[in-house]
Amino acid sequence: MAPLDQLQRPLRDLRISVTDRCNFRCRYCMPAEVFGPNYQFLPRDEILSFEEIERISRALVPIGVSKLRLTGGEPLLRRGIDDLIGMLSAINGIDDIALTTNGVLLAHHAEALALAGLKRVTVSLDALDPATFAQMNGVGAKIDRVLAGIGSAQTFGLPVKVNAVIQRGVNEQEILPLARWAKENHITLRYIEFMDVGESNGWQMEKVVPASEIRATLESEFPLEALPPTHPGETAKRWKHADSDAEIGIIASVTQPFCQGCSRLRLSAEGKLFTCLFASEGHDIRTLVRRFEDDEKLRHEVATLWTARRDRYSEDRGQNPGPKAEMSYLGG
Ligand code: GTP
Ligand code: 5AD
Ligand code: SF4
Ligand code: SF4
Repeated sequence: MAPLDQLQRPLRDLRISVTDRCNFRCRYCMPAEVFGPNYQFLPRDEILSFEEIERISRALVPIGVSKLRLTGGEPLLRRGIDDLIGMLSAINGIDDIALTTNGVLLAHHAEALALAGLKRVTVSLDALDPATFAQMNGVGAKIDRVLAGIGSAQTFGLPVKVNAVIQRGVNEQEILPLARWAKENHITLRYIEFMDVGESNGWQMEKVVPASEIRATLESEFPLEALPPTHPGETAKRWKHADSDAEIGIIASVTQPFCQGCSRLRLSAEGKLFTCLFASEGHDIRTLVRRFEDDEKLRHEVATLWTARRDRYSEDRGQNPGPKAEMSYLGG
């Protein structure tokens, strides 16, 4: 019943973007000069309703989906997001629901999210130094609010992971301070290589700090022990601190791609399915959903899409002639 794609990869994760809007303007994702006051975000009636998202998610369980991640833009900008989480957590066969956020609104939402059934949260945090953080988020947002959000999530029992995108000449000096802070606070920290996703972030190979260098920097201060992968196609290579159980990971999409076991399908806020983060075009599913076609038909459509899939962009860098969809639209 569960389809395999052309590279024998099963479908497992559905990453759902609930809005293409964000209250940050991180330069590597939504540079303010591109995503300015006149930028046309998706109109409200084009965005999937909670009922539509729930229906798509439920329909895909029999073909393998067991893990959901809500993304954006910034998912906490979507009104009533905890209601959606409640609806998704009631689906039989879904055993993990996570959310990726910039954390600035998290303190307000953590309790409701946890009560609704969210299992864990991933917070993007690229620097602890207030000036570097304010400059990177592009809107001068204060680090204290993000730290409060993380604290709040922990208070309400939500395990927290932190993602830090590292860019040459921007925040390499934050690698060690972030590691010290995460270790002290028992937070899993993952460094992400700056990726050539989308068309507007000015990506250049010279701006990528490779995983090997991040690891060498870490090992100058922390003895690390390698951990085995938890599942095929995992994004992060993982280590633990020798003297604590705190975990650290590196997501090396550029220098050590992990397409081989990639089981991720992405759903944009307007109902397009993308079989790769670096794809140009999505596959419309909203029309079928709005025509009230039965779930079997939805499932069949997605199984057919998955079966034809050959994506391995990160292993084949440059093969997609573009233009690539933006990360803020697709969700990370
Ligand atoms: P867990 O569910 O905690 O294992 O999360 P994850 O490993 O899927 O990581 P997360 O959702 O936090 O994603 C972290 C970052 O990894 C994303 O923001 C992207 O930058 C990158 N990433 C995630 N999935 C993919 C992928 O399929 N391809 C590539 N190239 N990068 C990815
Ligand atoms: N390269 C690497 N990671 C990125 N993210 C956004 N844009 C990029 C990029 N160009 C990350 C964010 C966040 C997640 C949604 O994706 O920092 O953690
Ligand atoms: Fe917003 Fe996340 Fe993109 Fe930053 S990386 S602009 S927080 S969606
Ligand atoms: Fe999956 Fe595409 Fe990322 Fe490779 S580049 S891991 S195929 S989403």
